[in-house]
Amino acid sequence: MSIPLLSRSSPAANFNAFNETNGLDQILEYHELPVDVFEGRVAMDLGCGQSDLGSDLALRGIHAVVLGIDMNRNTLKANRQSESNTIPIQGNLASLPVVDESVGVIIATKSLPMWAKDASDIDNFFSETKRVLELGGFLSIFPIENDIWSGSVFKRAAKKRAVEDGIRGIVESTDWTTLTLTPFTLTAIKKKNYPLKSYIPGTD
Ligand SMILES: C[S@@+](CC[C@H](N)C(=O)[O-])C[C@H]1O[C@@H](n2cnc3c(N)ncnc32)[C@H](O)[C@@H]1O
Repeated sequence: MSIPLLSRSSPAANFNAFNETNGLDQILEYHELPVDVFEGRVAMDLGCGQSDLGSDLALRGIHAVVLGIDMNRNTLKANRQSESNTIPIQGNLASLPVVDESVGVIIATKSLPMWAKDASDIDNFFSETKRVLELGGFLSIFPIENDIWSGSVFKRAAKKRAVEDGIRGIVESTDWTTLTLTPFTLTAIKKKNYPLKSYIPGTD
């Protein structure tokens, strides 16, 4: 499976890697994503912290299921208490707790640099994201370079994977109109018995 890999470094100069991202607009700006890319998809926010992408998208009228993955139980609890549209799942970036080919969009905001220390971690990250992405799904990582994170480590590892897996490579800007979105399916996710009904806006 070939993954369109979208990695960004451009807005990196203006942010503190340890600050929480401030809502949907900042996520879209960091990842240079149009909000429509989430419509009708299962998305995964890797290392979501307290971010509640699912509710933010619902407020914009976007129908999406967001799986918020974080290793830290406390931040996930914060999501639950606010009756979130993000399904909080405690998990590790090293081994994603979902079935194969079940996710349409993966974003990782400021989380990869906190965890991946070398090329083998990045390699592992690509293996896992590749496994869970459905055909035609998207992977967007932010940042790939900043003052606490060596972009060169990322780029070397990503380049190696690109060669091995036929990933298109790291692109600095993307014309989204040229990318093909595959039809939305919940089949794989349903196998895991996630409480989808209560989290999909407008399905009550
Ligand atoms: C700087 S915070 C960013 C949170 C959020 N994405 C944002 O942009 O506001 C990094 C998050 O990644 C999580 N994290 C770090 N390493 C992780 C790992 N190996 N597996 C899962 N989550 C991880 C941390 O618990 C933390 O919540």
